[in-house]
Amino acid sequence: MSRKMKNKVITNLLIERIASEGKCVGYHEGKVVFVSNVAPGDMVDVRITRGKSSFMEGEAINFHEYSKDRIDPFCSHFGVCGGCKWQHINYDLQKNYKRQQVVDQFQRIAKVPIPEVAPILGSSETKYYRNKLDFTFSNSRWLTREEINSGKEFERNALGFHIPKMFDKIVDIEHCYLQGGISNNVRNSLREFALSNQLSFYDIRNQVGLLRNLIIRTTSMGQTMVIVQFGENDPESIPMVMEFLKNKFPEITSLLYVINTKGNETFHDLEIVNYAGLPYIEEEMEGLKFRVGPKSFYQTNSKQAYELYKVARDFAELKGDEVVYDLYTGTGTIANFVAKNAKQVIGVEYVEAAIEDAKLNSQINGIENTLFYAGDMKDILTEDFISNHAKPDVVITDPPRAGMHEDVVNMLLRLESPTIVYVSCNPATQARDVALLAEKYQVERIQPVDMFPQTYHVENVVRLTLKS
Ligand SMILES: C[S@@+](CC[C@H](N)C(=O)[O-])C[C@H]1O[C@@H](n2cnc3c(N)ncnc32)[C@H](O)[C@@H]1O
Repeated sequence: MSRKMKNKVITNLLIERIASEGKCVGYHEGKVVFVSNVAPGDMVDVRITRGKSSFMEGEAINFHEYSKDRIDPFCSHFGVCGGCKWQHINYDLQKNYKRQQVVDQFQRIAKVPIPEVAPILGSSETKYYRNKLDFTFSNSRWLTREEINSGKEFERNALGFHIPKMFDKIVDIEHCYLQGGISNNVRNSLREFALSNQLSFYDIRNQVGLLRNLIIRTTSMGQTMVIVQFGENDPESIPMVMEFLKNKFPEITSLLYVINTKGNETFHDLEIVNYAGLPYIEEEMEGLKFRVGPKSFYQTNSKQAYELYKVARDFAELKGDEVVYDLYTGTGTIANFVAKNAKQVIGVEYVEAAIEDAKLNSQINGIENTLFYAGDMKDILTEDFISNHAKPDVVITDPPRAGMHEDVVNMLLRLESPTIVYVSCNPATQARDVALLAEKYQVERIQPVDMFPQTYHVENVVRLTLKS
């Protein structure tokens, strides 16, 4: 950053529009200024934190006027917790902004002709829509400025979410509006139990402490999975904690724990102990059951996942005799969902355990026309693979945020399947990939879907067809 710009304050900057990643934009002397935690229509003073020749980034330090579109956030943790950054914007506007992001990314990055972008499919639930939350125990609770200034002693143990950009600070959550059912009750009761029994909360810096992490998963079928991660193998305290949860919450249908003494909280490589109930929960869609184990991925907004999958199926325009490739299939949810409308579906995915789940999900639903393969997409999707299988009539692809590897895009260009349905949780990388695919494909339909109300995240589905 040029020294001249460092800490410079721009006064009376009008915030004009939303940009990507939840930032907003104002203009100063012809330059774009990206600002976080504001809303279009705000008039603010901004301290510049980063300056480049073409843009600046900054933080609002003073509000002269608040946007008329602002609403009061409903959560007491808003502003500190990184979870729902758009609670100050009403839901209709959130939806418009998300749709606009898709339009902007396709105009700026894809730079290809596109049809009218359909209005975003809103989520019927804008609170309590998540089926999975992940809480961290910490002995380093985030203290407010007032608490610090008061000079008093405060409880330092916490169970909640990480403060954005501070790996060791946890905001203690009293009520989270993202997950319904017994979620808030389980978290608060377990924290209370741990405090009153002087059980140690994890010390993230020194990597010691008994209670490390709590995952709660719920399903639309009313089941609940609770996974407790312990940072120490303590044969007395672990059963005490698990017994407490088992007795206090008979609603928990799958009660599990894992001892994790590694440097990070991921547990895909660790043994999960099934303490009580079943080792899985189940989701349901159109009569199909999807088994979700502790290590399985499942879209976190179940109701809206169904809407998303219906859009993908609709865009695929299947008649029943097609070979479909479902790339980045995860636990094979899309593959199994469209299987009855296709001759054969081939799913490919990196995570081996997910592929095992995908096969199991076909099996428990009596689906016999699916095949699943595990491996890195760019290594699996080769000329050999294609000559050993039927060529696809339709490719459905749902890559992670980084989008598709260039080798995969090039393979799709060589494959020339008549239709590609591209599902994405990041329209910027989707637009980049569509620009490459535009050598042979045209964009026929675009449908954004809102999976995550109160956040800036947007899911987008595009139907591409081979140019004649
Ligand atoms: C957005 S999720 C798609 C999930 C799935 N379609 C669903 O709706 O449940 C992306 C998936 O891509 C997988 N993945 C990421 N990188 C990969 C790669 N290089 N090769 C194959 N799969 C990959 C991830 O493991 C993840 O399951």
